[in-house]
Amino acid sequence: MIFAQREGSLRQPHESKIYSEFSHLYDKIFSRFFCKRIATVIRSLSIPPGAKVLEVGVGTGLSLSAYPPHCEVTAIDLAPEMLEQARQKVIEHGWRHFRLLRMDALNLEFPDNSFDYVTSFHVISVVPDPVRMMREIHRVCRPGGKIVIINHFRTTKPVLGPLVDALDPLTRHLGWSASLRLSQAFAGVPLVIEKQFKTSPFSLFTVVLAHNRKEVTTDGVMH
Ligand SMILES: C[S@@+](CC[C@H](N)C(=O)[O-])C[C@H]1O[C@@H](n2cnc3c(N)ncnc32)[C@H](O)[C@@H]1O
Repeated sequence: MIFAQREGSLRQPHESKIYSEFSHLYDKIFSRFFCKRIATVIRSLSIPPGAKVLEVGVGTGLSLSAYPPHCEVTAIDLAPEMLEQARQKVIEHGWRHFRLLRMDALNLEFPDNSFDYVTSFHVISVVPDPVRMMREIHRVCRPGGKIVIINHFRTTKPVLGPLVDALDPLTRHLGWSASLRLSQAFAGVPLVIEKQFKTSPFSLFTVVLAHNRKEVTTDGVMH
């Protein structure tokens, strides 16, 4: 396991600051809301042996126990305090299939087509540029690779939608946007959405399973 922390080479945008400050409370507050859904979705992927997985914005590592030990998982996050909580889980369980790195989701430091799977849970409405994050995910995922996003997206319902928009300044202050639409986040990113669903009828969160439509032409150029 590597825990790289390249101080100075990374900016510390506002969006990860609140997570840095409250990392010690994060599991107590969110594990009951997030863990089951994340685990169900990861297990449903049946990730094969040797697969290379990237998780973007791993936070305190609520997802880690769901990945099968036969795959290689690289997990990144911008907040060192959140990564430290994840690192403790890795040590506690003696897991050897994780690499934890401090990195910005908007500037992934991996070559194109590095991963078979890219996952990200509850992060896309936190970063200041969701489309850029999706473009980075698309770039580092191999052609045909799987992309899995779980997030709250703004409802399209007529009354509820504007109500949620009105709350957006408050939630932004807390570190995430309530009014991000799924279509906005995925705009212009060449993905095929295979499935989009909620794990329960009243869930606020949407699971998006997609694959990367990037193709390699005979001249070797990626599109
Ligand atoms: C709501 S938490 C989700 C954490 C974890 N995925 C989960 O589901 O519990 C959002 C995470 O995104 C991270 N984050 C925010 N901006 C980021 C960025 N630009 N690059 C990488 N991680 C970022 C935060 O530090 C935080 O850990």
